[in-house]
Amino acid sequence: MDDAGQAAYWLSLQYDGWAAGTRYAFAVLDAGELVGNVVLKRGTPGVERAEVGYWTAGPARGRGVAPRAVEALTAWAFATFAEGGLRRIDLLHEGDNHASCRVAEKSGFALEEIVPAFPPYPLDGHRHSRKWLDGAERRASQ
Ligand SMILES: CC(C)(COP(=O)(O)OP(=O)(O)OC[C@H]1O[C@@H](n2cnc3c(N)ncnc32)[C@H](O)[C@@H]1OP(=O)(O)O)[C@@H](O)C(=O)NCCC(=O)NCCS
Repeated sequence: MDDAGQAAYWLSLQYDGWAAGTRYAFAVLDAGELVGNVVLKRGTPGVERAEVGYWTAGPARGRGVAPRAVEALTAWAFATFAEGGLRRIDLLHEGDNHASCRVAEKSGFALEEIVPAFPPYPLDGHRHSRKWLDGAERRASQ
């Protein structure tokens, strides 16, 4: 963000996403201070697949903020939307984003496939996923 106008526009997209049921963005706070953002991108409501996105503010990086936020968002998303058909959450990152790959690993998103480069992304990427587990599957995995 370069100025308040861009920030206001970005915020309006988040509110529009909540209203449309396509994008659920959360501020990540540490003792009241903004340290990051985490978002569930749902595209068309009712589809089986959603995607998670995130960033951590520069000074707060390296403290496990993003993995904990992604874990919390994932639990909330399945608790809220599994009944409406949500079965899988993807986490996509560019192949050279090692920090993001670590976030995926720490929050239990298994690497599923290498995604070939496509514009505007010049490098191959990773798709990690977490799947919804029903009650019996969840107990068996514990
Ligand atoms: C990727 C990102 C969200 C990680 O968030 P985080 O809250 O720092 O996550 P973690 O504390 O678990 O650190 C993850 C990795 O970042 C790296 N890291 C550690 N300290 C760091 C620091 N001070 N600055 C930058 N990266 C650091 C390490 O590789 C770490 O992995 P490790 O725990 O195995 O050492 C954050 O770097 C970021 O916002 N990057 C820019 C936006 C982005 O890439 N978003 C994801 C798009 S797919």
